[in-house]
Amino acid sequence: CWSNVEMGPPDAILGVTEAFKRDNNPNKMNLGVGAYRDDDGKPYILPSVLKAEEQILKAKLDKEYAGITGVPEFAKAAAELAFGVGNPILKDGLNVTTQGVSGTGSLRIGGAFFAKWYQPSKDFYLPSPSWGNHTPIFKHSGLEVKSYRYYDPSTCGFDFAGALDDISKIPEGSVIVLHACAHNPTGVDPKPEQWNELSAVIKKRKLFPFFDMAYQGFASGDTDRDAYALRQFVKDGHAVALSQSFAKNMGLYGERVGAFTIVCDSAEEASRVMSQVKIVIRPMYSNPPVHGARIASRILNTPELRTQWLGEVKGMADRIISMRTQLKDGLAKEGSSKNWQHITDQIGMFCFTGLKPDQVERLTKEFSVYLTKDGRISVAGLSSKNVGYLAKAMHEVTK
Ligand code: LMR
Repeated sequence: CWSNVEMGPPDAILGVTEAFKRDNNPNKMNLGVGAYRDDDGKPYILPSVLKAEEQILKAKLDKEYAGITGVPEFAKAAAELAFGVGNPILKDGLNVTTQGVSGTGSLRIGGAFFAKWYQPSKDFYLPSPSWGNHTPIFKHSGLEVKSYRYYDPSTCGFDFAGALDDISKIPEGSVIVLHACAHNPTGVDPKPEQWNELSAVIKKRKLFPFFDMAYQGFASGDTDRDAYALRQFVKDGHAVALSQSFAKNMGLYGERVGAFTIVCDSAEEASRVMSQVKIVIRPMYSNPPVHGARIASRILNTPELRTQWLGEVKGMADRIISMRTQLKDGLAKEGSSKNWQHITDQIGMFCFTGLKPDQVERLTKEFSVYLTKDGRISVAGLSSKNVGYLAKAMHEVTK
C-alpha cells in the first residue's frame, strides 16, 4: 500500500539528537536542539516548577477537558507577561489569546487563522535565516513563505541596512515575522533604536507584524526587557500577532505550553476573532493539554512563585552568558587567531558560530560534537566541564 512513500530526510534540528544518541564516544556533546542543561550537563527542572506541581497535585484537580482555548487563567497571565500588566490593549479587551501547544502549535494556530481570514496577502516574510521549523509550519498552513535580509555573515551580526532595504520593498499588506528576542538560529537581535526604526518602516509599508517570542527572559535575563520590541510595536499602533512558548523560560519542553494572541481594533472585533480562532483549533486538536498550563499559570499568578521563577530565568540566562565568555576565552587559550567576538556579542540560547559546513562535519566526525549544519550551537548545552573540549575542537577545525 505504501510503496510510493519515499524515505524522508531526518529533521534538521531533532535529527541531530538521533545521531548523537548513536555515538559511543564518552566525550560526545549534543549542541543541536535548544534545550537548557545545568552545569553538570543535566536537564534542569526549575524549582518553581516543582513547587507549582506539588501544589497542583495537592489540589487534586480533575482531568476534565479544558475549553478549546485552554486554561483561562493561563492565557490571561501569558498575555500579561508578554504585553505587560496594565497594557491598554489588555485593559480594553483587545487581545484574543488562546493557549497553544507550545511555540510550534501556537504558530500553527496563527498560520491557520491567517490562511483563512487575513485578506490582504498570503505572503509571510521570514528573516533570513529563521528557525528551521518556521517555513514548514507556515507552508503547511497554506501560506507563501518569503524572506528578508537579517544576518550578515561578514560580521556574524545584524544586517540592519539590508533588513531596512528589503523590508521597505515588501508589498503592502504582507505579513512580516519577527523574533521578539534571542533570534533563533543566529543569536543576533536588533538594538532598541533599531527596533524603533524597523517599527516605523513596517508601519509605513503597512505590513502585519507577527512576533514569535519563544525565549522571553533568555536574552537579557529580564522578561520585561526581552518584551521591548513587542511592546514598542504595540505603542506605535501596530496590530500584532504573537506566538509564545514556555518551553525554554520555564523548562516545560515536553509539557507543550504556549499561547497565541491577535490584537484587535475593538472588543467587539475581538469576540468575532475569538469565535473563529476556536473554529480553527477544534479540528486540529480539540483542546490543549492542561497540566503544563496549570504549572505556568500557578507560577505566573502566585507572587512568591513568580518572583522565584524570574530569578531562575535570570540564573539560566547568566549561566549561558558565562559559557559564551568561557568559550571565547578557551579559543584564545588554544591559540586561535580568529575573531570570536560574536560569541559574546550574540545573545540567547544560540550562537551562530560562522563555522562552514565542512568544519561542522569535521566537528561531528572527529570530535563527536553534534550541531546543526548551519553552524548553530546551543550554548545551553555547554558546561564548565566540556567547554574546554569544544574550544579545542573548534580551534582544530578552523586553523
Ligand atoms: C530549537 O531550535 O532547537 C528549538 O526551538 C527546538 C525545536 O523544536 O527546534
